[in-house]
Amino acid sequence: MKQAIIVGASSGLGCELAIQLADKGYQLGLMARREGLLNELLDKLPGSHFIQTTDVTNAEQSQTELQELIARMGDVELIVLSSGVGLFEQKLEWAAEREMIDVNVRGFAALTIVAMEHFTQRGAGHLAGISSMAAHVFGARTVTYHATKAFVSNYLAGMRQRVIRSGLPITITTIEPGFVKTPMVHGKPLWMAPVEKGVSQMVTGLLKKKNHIFITKRWRYVAMVVDLMPHWLLRKFL
Ligand SMILES: NC(=O)c1ccc[n+]([C@@H]2O[C@H](COP(=O)([O-])OP(=O)(O)OC[C@H]3O[C@@H](n4cnc5c(N)ncnc54)[C@H](OP(=O)(O)O)[C@@H]3O)[C@@H](O)[C@H]2O)c1
Repeated sequence: MKQAIIVGASSGLGCELAIQLADKGYQLGLMARREGLLNELLDKLPGSHFIQTTDVTNAEQSQTELQELIARMGDVELIVLSSGVGLFEQKLEWAAEREMIDVNVRGFAALTIVAMEHFTQRGAGHLAGISSMAAHVFGARTVTYHATKAFVSNYLAGMRQRVIRSGLPITITTIEPGFVKTPMVHGKPLWMAPVEKGVSQMVTGLLKKKNHIFITKRWRYVAMVVDLMPHWLLRKFL
């Protein structure tokens, strides 16, 4: 039986990913802070799965919790890091900035290291991290969120280069969603996709071991265009 761990499985993309991967026969390890939501998810899934609570802002403790879950499960071949925080910054407030940096950057990097150690030891594996289309642009009221997601995309690109050089059969997948309807997204932004559709495209890309997945697919073309635009031009649209 194939085994996967999802960090950030209590809500949104991570939760729907658990439902769709369990449907495909995966045995899952589900991580997040809210144990009640993880238990509710567990009750919905076919088969037997594992739960491990974690707060990725306690980076070192979270590393130990991921290591312990990997050991409990047996042979984990896919780890998806979905935990993320996106807060509006009407005012510049350190508490909000720090939370985004702690979860989206520090927590992300800390757990990536554990995943990479596991896959290197195992001789193969698949790490997927959820970044965002936000990595390609900047925002006056979302200064920190964009910057943290630029870190995630760049970090994963470097990690991919590293494993290619090592010759190990480890896949690194960068997932960049546009807007997908989850509790993180407020209002009705452009081209908002239902979570089932977004995650179904994510699962197709993961099973094909793609390096890069845009959800939904059209955001790939938006990314190509904005990457070519100079900042003075981009500023007119943001
Ligand atoms: N929805 C979109 O349109 C969209 C677009 C681009 C990128 N993304 C990215 O997709 C990922 C998932 O977001 P979502 O839309 O599914 O949002 P969501 O429904 O709010 O889910 C966020 C997840 O992150 C977990 N999390 C937050 N803080 C955590 C912490 N300190 N420790 C451990 N886990 C923590 C939450 O679990 P607990 O609160 O239970 O800990 C929850 O499972 C994020 O990285 C987000 O930036 C989403």
